[in-house]
Amino acid sequence: MTSAVIAQWILERTGLNPESLGPRNIERAVAAAMEQAGLADPADYLERLQSSASELQALIDALVVAETWFFRDREPFVFLKHHVQSAWPASHPNRRLRVLSAPCSTGEEPYSIAMTLLEAGLTPEQFHIDAVDISRRAIETGRRAIYHERAFRGHDPGCIDRYFHRIPDGYALDERVVRLVNFQTDNLVHPVFLAAQDPYHIVFCRNLVIYLTEPARVLFLEALNRWIVPHGLLITGHSELTFFQQAKYTPVHHARSFACTRSGPAENKSTRHRIAKVATYPAAPRPPACLAPLSLATSAVPVPKVEPDRNTPPNDLNAIRDLANQGALIQARARCEQFLKDHPPSAEAYCLLGLIHQASDRLDDAEAGYLKALYLDPRCVEALVHLSLCYERRGNAARAALIRARARRIEMAVTQSA
Ligand SMILES: C[S@@+](CC[C@H](N)C(=O)[O-])C[C@H]1O[C@@H](n2cnc3c(N)ncnc32)[C@H](O)[C@@H]1O
Repeated sequence: MTSAVIAQWILERTGLNPESLGPRNIERAVAAAMEQAGLADPADYLERLQSSASELQALIDALVVAETWFFRDREPFVFLKHHVQSAWPASHPNRRLRVLSAPCSTGEEPYSIAMTLLEAGLTPEQFHIDAVDISRRAIETGRRAIYHERAFRGHDPGCIDRYFHRIPDGYALDERVVRLVNFQTDNLVHPVFLAAQDPYHIVFCRNLVIYLTEPARVLFLEALNRWIVPHGLLITGHSELTFFQQAKYTPVHHARSFACTRSGPAENKSTRHRIAKVATYPAAPRPPACLAPLSLATSAVPVPKVEPDRNTPPNDLNAIRDLANQGALIQARARCEQFLKDHPPSAEAYCLLGLIHQASDRLDDAEAGYLKALYLDPRCVEALVHLSLCYERRGNAARAALIRARARRIEMAVTQSA
């Protein structure tokens, strides 16, 4: 037996895609854990893993990528505040807002949610936050709630001054906020996870699904439907919206919030209007070109049809993206092609064209669009993510995984330089 068998065994339990973690990182983590356990034979170590929960936990802790920070991506929290102030608690006077942060890593995300809800005017009695992660080490860090400067690289709406105090080893979060988050170590891809819980009104699920294997993702998306109330709000990671759209979530039109709503039992036009109303928020600044949210459903999932605005000028990529999101794929394609004729070639435009083709099930054309985008900008994460989905749909899992790993490396590099 080789350590690769061990890696496979553990990855099947976490649902994580070996390519996204980096095969060499996995080998190193397994070798270090075996040395720590004083075992040279992989077969003995596997036996230990199967019989010892703490050994298994130590290996998981060594394998996962727990990268996170306060108010990550900024706009989801701006959106959360608006959403809560405009749609809650007036419409739910006696209901407690239930929020899930999964995976929560070392706590920066659920605590950012807690501070945002307080800033939105909710009292601690008006909401409940659960936070889950598979890494016990990450959960312990979250419970300790002492953070270093690095955890604050995101946008800070004045919260550091209001909710933290300086101590010799960093910044300690105010006990009033710490009390608001219920941490739990658990495996989100386990079939019975959260089966007995009341569902949540808002779920933050960011930077997990993109790194799961296809079977784990399917399992996870099915479970997610049980955790979230009909029309509940889901906040995804910036390159993950597409996965959720395929699972019948509808994007909210607030730029860079990466939010979507879960379809209700009988999604119809009036529901759509409600979503549109909830989604009317002040415009956010435009994201850098190739990181803009490109959120089109594939043709496997019909986008609710609304009448496209046929007066939209054809020279605005955002308008073209909206048109495509409304289901007007033929017009969107024509306008995108026209845009490319009228403007210098850009990764963003080719990536959008790829998405429009993909939504029409034209995988060859979609692939060509993404490859052109990547030729112009090899670091275009959106093109990489969607290209990997194209390969996945064609059954080329190995190639899909390689491309996703490349996207992951670029994201990590961006994160580290932020
Ligand atoms: C990159 S962090 C994301 C944290 C936060 N959501 C964010 O976006 O900043 C990914 C987290 O997923 C956790 N994770 C990976 N597989 C998991 C699983 N099967 N169940 C629960 N958590 C998992 C890891 O431990 C890690 O802390």
